[in-house]
Amino acid sequence: MKIIKSVKEMQQLAAAEKATGKSIGFVPTMGYLHEGHLSLLKKAKAENESVILSIFVNPLQFGRGEDLDAYPRDFEHDKELAESEGANFLFYPPVEEMYPAKPSVTASVNDRTDVLCGKSRPGHFDGVATVLAKLFNITQPDRVYFGLKDAQQVAVVEGLVADFCFPFQIRPVDTVREGDGLAKSSRNVYLSDKERTEAPELYKSLLLAKSLIESGERNSKRIIEAVEQHLQETCSGVVDYIELYSYPDLKPVENLSGRIIIAMAVKFSKARLIDNIIMEIN
Ligand code: PAJ
Repeated sequence: MKIIKSVKEMQQLAAAEKATGKSIGFVPTMGYLHEGHLSLLKKAKAENESVILSIFVNPLQFGRGEDLDAYPRDFEHDKELAESEGANFLFYPPVEEMYPAKPSVTASVNDRTDVLCGKSRPGHFDGVATVLAKLFNITQPDRVYFGLKDAQQVAVVEGLVADFCFPFQIRPVDTVREGDGLAKSSRNVYLSDKERTEAPELYKSLLLAKSLIESGERNSKRIIEAVEQHLQETCSGVVDYIELYSYPDLKPVENLSGRIIIAMAVKFSKARLIDNIIMEIN
């Protein structure tokens, strides 16, 4: 596995891979890799001849007062994991390489960001879209892998790829969970012992919503209320949002039908956790 820190070098190596007819699978991450990231890498490896993993904690997508400085990092461990999953290239640029000066052009996302994390983290998806547009041009992928744990991110990236005419496929990957249902996340290390025992309740409350829907409930307000009540009874974290929308366009649905998402964010003392489920309703 080659480790590359320079934009130009990564771009040249990607072009050389393509010139020899290899397909490129790209997995963008912010590092501190866990099994969620590794499931993307495994899928990329299975579907492409060459795999690029990027690790870059992108300052543009963190708001003021968010955890940019505290974002967990462990490059040596990440390197070992990436290598053992068979990544061919690890792109690990310093901030000055990605942003040598204040950007004169950035992406601004106009749809699907007035809800969920887009609403509670203003500017976040503009930062995500900007860094991804750069990373896509640097790595020239055929397929790019994203986790559905960040389902709004997948929806936003679908818009970015369609509107900016990027010539590759987006490959969404299901959420990987701990044995007790907690979605794997780099931020889970910031949960206290007590919070860690409560955190699986997020997924349990989503499963409660799922079972309500399966037994015929179609009123989104009643479903959200049941989820909220479950969280209030079982979790010390503060609910940031619990929302239900059509997916991937993220529009309100009162009487459920079609593809929907139920998504939540809960703030614990040092970590804000998100989770969701996506369901098809006939
Ligand atoms: P990061 O949070 O490191 O996540 C990188 C990728 O791993 C994302 O596509 C995310 O959805 C996926 N992922 C995280 N936890 C997962 C889990 N439990 N199961 C499945 N996939 C999971 O998302 C970002 O970085 C950044 O916003 C980025 C796209 C790299 C742009 O900076």
